[in-house]
Amino acid sequence: MTPDIRILQRPEELFEAAAELFVGAAQRAVADKGRFCVALAGGSTPRSLYRLLAGERAWRDAMPWEESHFFWSDERHVPPSHADSNFRMAMEAMLSNVAVPPSNLHRIEGERERAEETASLYERTLREFFGLMPGEFPCFDLALLGMGSDGHTASLFPGTAALDERDRLVVSNRVEKLQAERITFTVPTLDNAAHVVFLVTGKDKADALAAVFEGPYEPAKFPAQLIRPVHGRLTVLADEAAAARLARGGVRAPGGDGCPSRS
Ligand code: 6PG
Repeated sequence: MTPDIRILQRPEELFEAAAELFVGAAQRAVADKGRFCVALAGGSTPRSLYRLLAGERAWRDAMPWEESHFFWSDERHVPPSHADSNFRMAMEAMLSNVAVPPSNLHRIEGERERAEETASLYERTLREFFGLMPGEFPCFDLALLGMGSDGHTASLFPGTAALDERDRLVVSNRVEKLQAERITFTVPTLDNAAHVVFLVTGKDKADALAAVFEGPYEPAKFPAQLIRPVHGRLTVLADEAAAARLARGGVRAPGGDGCPSRS
């Protein structure tokens, strides 16, 4: 699938474009269904977007915070107070500064001793929240993703077991190179989103971005290649530094723009 790759000259422009996508998706979802369900990305790149959404009056006032539900597409196996927590990063950059009801924050409980228990609990949270039947996957209105310089996304790292999971919604994933357990959405959960948006900045991502979207299909090496929305859209927002190795510009992808009626 050829994604809609949009190349923005500087990171500031990328995050403004991302805010526009984010708020637009939220407003449409609330207008259509009365709620917006978003899976936030972790790492450092999205922090600037989160700060913009909460800090720039135009975006803050346009967001339907009360009707928005926040999930995380992956988490480290750490407590929410830990410096590495993706939940903590989003809280500090955005969620503790806006009027989102605490009950709308659906965090991954990384503090639990066993990562697999955390994953199973989060899977139950998703099934209950989305009212899923066995075999069904949640349809997030928006799933934000970052990309590592090794082509990983969420906590789907090269050569790890989670890459092959097609039945579970959420799994724990041993990442040897980090000597750590992670909790992550699986590929089918991400692929069932209405709109997946990659946020990729910086020259250290240039080789990975080109390999993922223009290189041979080698998902074990470049797991971000596995992300191919089943009925939704795939957008890549990259700054010029990250897009430096792309041979061709963006191509607007066909594809739907919303969850199927049963969602
Ligand atoms: C995480 C993320 C991970 C991240 C990439 C890029 O928990 O770290 O889910 O997939 O998006 O590693 O990270 P940066 O944005 O920090 O470059």
